[in-house]
Amino acid sequence: MIRLKNETEINKIKDSSAILAETFKKLGAAVDEGITTGELDHIAHSYITKCGATPAFLGYLDYPASICASVNEIVIHGIPDEKKLRRGDILSLDLGVDLSGYISDAAYTYTVGEVPEHTKQLLKVTEECLYRGIEKAKAGNRIHHISQAVYNHAKEHQYGVVHQFCGHGVGFELHEDPQVPNYAGRGPNPRIKAGMVLAIEPMINMGTDEVVVLEDDWTVMTVDSSLSAHFEHTIAVLPDRTEILTNFS
Ligand code: MF3
Ligand code: CO
Repeated sequence: MIRLKNETEINKIKDSSAILAETFKKLGAAVDEGITTGELDHIAHSYITKCGATPAFLGYLDYPASICASVNEIVIHGIPDEKKLRRGDILSLDLGVDLSGYISDAAYTYTVGEVPEHTKQLLKVTEECLYRGIEKAKAGNRIHHISQAVYNHAKEHQYGVVHQFCGHGVGFELHEDPQVPNYAGRGPNPRIKAGMVLAIEPMINMGTDEVVVLEDDWTVMTVDSSLSAHFEHTIAVLPDRTEILTNFS
């Protein structure tokens, strides 16, 4: 069941998103060689709680941290730990904020120091995939218009598009209907309506689209160990336009 949000509710998700955006600014400033993902998790947790909100991922399905921190060939759901980031790494940070029951969700892939040109290209194209998808997220279109736009752009560059994990409705819960796949498959393809709040999140691999979940039951890795990037925004579909709620650039 898709739960539409009214203007008041969207404004509350916007407040939640503002805290999330500020958290990303702090994390982005801290990402550097030598810092651990555990330290980044701490920065996020202390800032979000200082704002009177809660990290939406912490405890969700028993997830043990406030952020997902996925380095290099880790696609998503990397659990923060005590390993230091190294020059040349890429780091996908994914986190959510719960402000009085209103939830926002976003992700961004950072570079640590200098990275090769082909790595920059993967990040650039994945972020472009996100914006191509957002452009299609307007009232009257269907969910698969988003999926198709993401998929086609990634495929133009011969990248692997992760199928096992999707974008989703968000706002009252972390994961709501509808699913927002990054490919137009055979699943449900509802019409996009004003009042929908969606998390659009392309996960794009340099190599194959195939991924595997590691023994910790969380960490998702590319099977060929190729690099993977992840960008996500929470957006609200309004009658006449679509608004990105989690902007932080
Ligand atoms: N990465 C997922 C998303 O963006 C949510 C993380 S699941 C959690 O939808 F358990 F880590 F919270
Ligand atoms: Co999400």
